[in-house]
Amino acid sequence: MDIKKLYQKYTLNTYTRVGPIFVKGKGSWLIDDAGQRYLDLFPGWGVSILGHCHPGIVKVIKGQAGRLIHLPNNLYQVEQAMLAKEIVNNSYPAKVFFANSGAEGVETAIKFSRLYGRGCRYEIITMKNSFHGRTFGALSATGQNKYKISFKPILPGFKQVNFNDFADFKRKVSSKTVGVILELIQGEGGVDTSGKEYVKKVSDYCRRNDLLFIIDEVQTGMGRTGKLFCYQNYAVAPDIMILSKGLGAGLPISAVVVKEKIADIIKPGMHASTFGGSPLVARVSREVFKIIKKEKIVNNVERRGRYLMERLCELKKEFSFIKDIRGMGLMAGIELKFDAYPIFYECLKKKLIINSTHKNVLRIMPALNVTNKELDRGLEILKEVLTQL
Ligand SMILES: Cc1ncc(COP(=O)(O)O)c(C=O)c1O
Repeated sequence: MDIKKLYQKYTLNTYTRVGPIFVKGKGSWLIDDAGQRYLDLFPGWGVSILGHCHPGIVKVIKGQAGRLIHLPNNLYQVEQAMLAKEIVNNSYPAKVFFANSGAEGVETAIKFSRLYGRGCRYEIITMKNSFHGRTFGALSATGQNKYKISFKPILPGFKQVNFNDFADFKRKVSSKTVGVILELIQGEGGVDTSGKEYVKKVSDYCRRNDLLFIIDEVQTGMGRTGKLFCYQNYAVAPDIMILSKGLGAGLPISAVVVKEKIADIIKPGMHASTFGGSPLVARVSREVFKIIKKEKIVNNVERRGRYLMERLCELKKEFSFIKDIRGMGLMAGIELKFDAYPIFYECLKKKLIINSTHKNVLRIMPALNVTNKELDRGLEILKEVLTQL
């Protein structure tokens, strides 16, 4: 059966798909239908933080699937409550709403912000070059026109400001502003990192002016940056944090972690999600937290992240067309002087999976349990490709 033909005939043309057909995964490796092994240093677009098919995750999926898979949210279950406790114990005093994807988490945060504004304040400030998802609210919050251009008019109530520019932020706040949504590292925006002083100033300003300080940790959360949550690298704590991607290590889940001052105004019927926080996905997500602790994953990120950055800086010295190396932990960006997509494509041909974003940035976000040897192999292939240019 020609799988690619089936895609062409039966699925919508929303993605640029390339490469072989993958049938298996193990750790940082994918195996295609011809048995060829690919080194995956971008597993699941940041989702598969424990690598492919981690045995601990496979085991709990099997166990929980035999007990209870789904339950509607008007009934009680064990797993969701325990997961909410785990998230709160690892972050700040809050209550949690569960959904299924990053965008749905962002939608939820937008709705809760509007509730907090009580009809008088509804404007949300977001950053230029930010990315918050493809559903309408999340898309409207997103600070990149290329995603919105074909879908205008976008929703009112969003204002974009320059990233890392506190004066611009302050200038755009009005009597209608209820909060700000911020990615501490703009992933799709080219792995651009926010400054510590800037984030502190925005957070303090929000506190003083009763604005909600909302951090989108969809990509940066769950250990990616060398702390369990990226905001822990900064001297701040959010009013609302949105988690997704690595939270389920491959199963779809998002969590919106809401401080009590907002939680107190949310009443039954105001928001819901049929699938959000099902027993299966919640059980798996609890296991993700357990494995992160047991396998000292955050430590690994810190050490491997430092190693990766050092190696990338060496690469920069060798190739004058590398403009910048940036990132935090195991979230790395390599800014080139030209379009990065052909490099991604050449690497794929040599059985290395990385990513290109924001036109000229290569992105590496390996599994958080990646080894130095795997990073070395990946960088060797990347160097081969860069040398051929
Ligand atoms: C920071 C951030 N927010 C939101 C989203 C949207 O998540 P999803 O694709 O799960 O809707 C993404 C996806 O890449 C993201 O990186």
